[in-house]
Amino acid sequence: MLPIQKYPAGWRALHWIMALMVLTLIPVGLWMASRAEADVWGPLTDALYSWHKAIGFSVLLLMVLRIVVKIRLTSPPYPEQIPRKLQMAAKGLHHLMYLLLVLTPLFGWAGVTAYPALITLGGYDLPAMPFVSQDSDLAELLFEIHGALAITLSVLIAGHIAAAFRHMFRKDGIFRRMV
Ligand code: HEM
Repeated sequence: MLPIQKYPAGWRALHWIMALMVLTLIPVGLWMASRAEADVWGPLTDALYSWHKAIGFSVLLLMVLRIVVKIRLTSPPYPEQIPRKLQMAAKGLHHLMYLLLVLTPLFGWAGVTAYPALITLGGYDLPAMPFVSQDSDLAELLFEIHGALAITLSVLIAGHIAAAFRHMFRKDGIFRRMV
């Protein structure tokens, strides 16, 4: 086996916790939106929305921590046998995912502020996003952007997972850096 340098344990934990959260958010988001579209309301739809908002807002808060970690610590260097172009493509994809992991929840939060539908788990309200007025047309636009960003993020995540599996099967040391 090739010698590898892993990401620090806290960074790896944050990666897998957030992966689980985002992989929950996407199907829950699609499910609740399809129920709303079909005008199916009730305790299940309410619960899906509450969980989606609570987990989504937590992703936004954790992204602040993740960006601080990313800036303060340097990622372990790629093994030398990984071509330079592939390294740059991987970095580009990672940066794009960071951007979407900030923008997607921000637009969701802005949408529920404009709607307004800030109620979440246990009947608690999320804080309203500053400078966003209550306006149903604005909310509709913000939700459309939120949905488009979430779908784009899902495509990038699918590519990211495919690349991770490829590294796992090739045993080139990249997969083991994050486990
Ligand atoms: C990384 C974080 C997030 C992801 C990946 C995500 C993903 C999604 C997805 C896939 C949908 C379905 C879109 C559609 O079918 O058009 C959706 C809808 C929705 N999301 Fe999120 N979401 C995130 C964060 C948030 C946050 C932070 C909030 C609010 C606090 C939120 C509120 C909503 C609402 C209210 C809808 C339904 C919009 C509608 O009915 O048109 N989301 N989300």
